[in-house]
Amino acid sequence: MDFCGVFQGDALFSNIVTRLRAAGCVFAEDEARLLISAARTPDDLAVMVDRRAAGLPLEHVIGWAEFCGLRIAVEPGVFVPRLRTEFLVSQAAALARSSAVVVDLCCGSGALGAALAASLERIELHSVDIDPAAVRCAHRNVTAVGGHVYEGDLYEPLPAILRGRVDVLVANVPYVPTEAIRLLPPEARLHEARVALDGGTDGLDVQRRVAAEAPLWLAPGGHLLIETSERQAPQTVGIFAHNGLIPQVVSSEELDATVVIGTRPAFQS
Ligand SMILES: C[S@@+](CC[C@H](N)C(=O)[O-])C[C@H]1O[C@@H](n2cnc3c(N)ncnc32)[C@H](O)[C@@H]1O
Repeated sequence: MDFCGVFQGDALFSNIVTRLRAAGCVFAEDEARLLISAARTPDDLAVMVDRRAAGLPLEHVIGWAEFCGLRIAVEPGVFVPRLRTEFLVSQAAALARSSAVVVDLCCGSGALGAALAASLERIELHSVDIDPAAVRCAHRNVTAVGGHVYEGDLYEPLPAILRGRVDVLVANVPYVPTEAIRLLPPEARLHEARVALDGGTDGLDVQRRVAAEAPLWLAPGGHLLIETSERQAPQTVGIFAHNGLIPQVVSSEELDATVVIGTRPAFQS
């Protein structure tokens, strides 16, 4: 049931806004509207407001996140897809032909693959994550668009038949250096799984493993796209080049996003 029309502007709406503001929510009015529209009953609404005021990310409270214009199911603990990652999706979409074989490694909720499937015609999509909660969400988001979801470590659960056939490999892997995790906002630090954030000592451990095996899975001329930070981009470029991929850095100032694209040469010399 949509309570928005009933409660907006009345005492309940104002009370919720006041509580959210006191809890530090910057967009308290927008959040109040979303919570009211997501709640099925007044009791449900009260629980949701309590959870949000206690610091749970809004997306975990309402059960979905907006990404590339889609509603992506996210359950507590699962990484909430970030606005900046829409840049990686737009870069991947520009490189993928229709019927491309697309792999989304470290897929989390499956948002990247779902967005690519929504914007491209008939891709063959395979998404992988190691975290069972993320895999549960990915099943909801990715199988809905005809993709396949696997649970396991990076490439390990993928069918061997994909080797040498992947046109576009997207991977928004954890890239926060271990020591920097304590500096993240509480919503990430306390409510997203450690495995979704921790990229090891320099933040690049998972990137190294993804790039090392990428040439085995990419088709000749295929592309690996990894989100990184502006500061880490030179190291990401070095990792790609070390593994025989031709690197290119692309960035969006507006979204504060940096992506390294590595292309497997079409012809091996
Ligand atoms: C930064 S989150 C990104 C999730 C998703 N790609 C997105 O952008 O919304 C990283 C994800 O990598 C997954 N992950 C970490 N190590 C992994 C591994 N070795 N194999 C597969 N998935 C892994 C985590 O469970 C988490 O869901």
